[in-house]
Amino acid sequence: MSDALIEDPSPELCASKIFEISGTKLDPEVAADLWQKILQHKWLMSEKLGRDVGLRTACVDLLENMDQALREYMDYKRKDILVEMAAQRIGREKWDSISDSQPPKQLVQKRIILPLTEEDLSRKHGVTPPKTIIFFGPPGTGKTHFVKAIAGVLSWWYIEILPSMLMVDGVEKIGANLHTVMEKARNLEEAVIFIDEFEEIAASRDAATRIDKSITNEFLKQVPLLKNQGNKVLLVCATNYIRQLDAALLRPGRFDCIIPVGGLDEDGRRTILEQFLSRLNTENVDLNLIVKMTSRFTPADIEYLFQQVAQFAFEQEHARGQDYRVTTDTFIEILPNMRPSLTEETIEEFQKDSITYSRV
Ligand SMILES: Nc1ncnc2c1ncn2[C@@H]1O[C@H](COP(=O)(O)OP(=O)(O)O)[C@@H](O)[C@H]1O
Ligand SMILES: [Mg+2]
Repeated sequence: MSDALIEDPSPELCASKIFEISGTKLDPEVAADLWQKILQHKWLMSEKLGRDVGLRTACVDLLENMDQALREYMDYKRKDILVEMAAQRIGREKWDSISDSQPPKQLVQKRIILPLTEEDLSRKHGVTPPKTIIFFGPPGTGKTHFVKAIAGVLSWWYIEILPSMLMVDGVEKIGANLHTVMEKARNLEEAVIFIDEFEEIAASRDAATRIDKSITNEFLKQVPLLKNQGNKVLLVCATNYIRQLDAALLRPGRFDCIIPVGGLDEDGRRTILEQFLSRLNTENVDLNLIVKMTSRFTPADIEYLFQQVAQFAFEQEHARGQDYRVTTDTFIEILPNMRPSLTEETIEEFQKDSITYSRV
């Protein structure tokens, strides 16, 4: 889309242009707004007709069909933004495959999914559906997985923003890029915007450099703008290091929920182990034993374990030239070489953080 459409020409210039076209004098502010709409409509008509449409034609058409024209332009713009931001569709099976006992699934269902889907009931009881959320917890515990699953179960777009994407034009431009991204996000409908590694852009301003501070400040400006917009957009930020985030961001009013994502219980591990086992060539695997042997394993650790087992089975069959079945013994052979990511210390730290920072 041409930048000329997004540019903000001076009200005086717009007023004189509109006067030139229509012969009518308007208040400069009103003219500026109208002028922007005329330009947008000229662009839209030209796109649709495949030829350059004159200003006068666009102006007449806009005034005749104002509401429809504005809606159509927004739809066009939204499509552009979705492509630009690499929006993805996620199937609802991701949500269904998470064990009901795995925290924070039930919490997310109650605080996020239901208020967003049961709109009338929310309104009736004065429940405000959340718009801004933080997930925190040790690496590999499933934060990203949960965000994708939320987009899937809501049937909303999933848009991932990595700090590295905001840094493409150099660190000085992070704030400006964040501004642009959030402005685009505000125009979307039914989208989950996910900012991963949030501490990279929202670190504490005390410890931060001048540039970091300007980014956090930009974020503090953007959150209320997003929350005041009536569209269906959910901003989710994830971090492994909640302690590093700027305290100003964590104050009530900025993020609606701050949700811990921690280790798996036996049931949670069983569900994930079953899913991975179904992809292997197995025979007589004692699931209960493997559940016991994988205490403190994160979903990421379980995924790694299965990669190792799969590779092992593949090599065995390749070397021997006969069917190799993964059994309990295969796991007993491979598991001792693996260390779970969660240690007593990380679990203790996480529990402390959960008490200090959670807001659900
Ligand atoms: N409940 C789950 N069921 C199955 N796989 C999961 C689950 N949670 C996470 N995973 C997988 O484990 C890996 C790590 O999860 P991820 O969401 O990236 O963790 P985090 O974002 O907390 O670092 C990913 O490959 C993800 O697909
Ligand atoms: Mg992640």
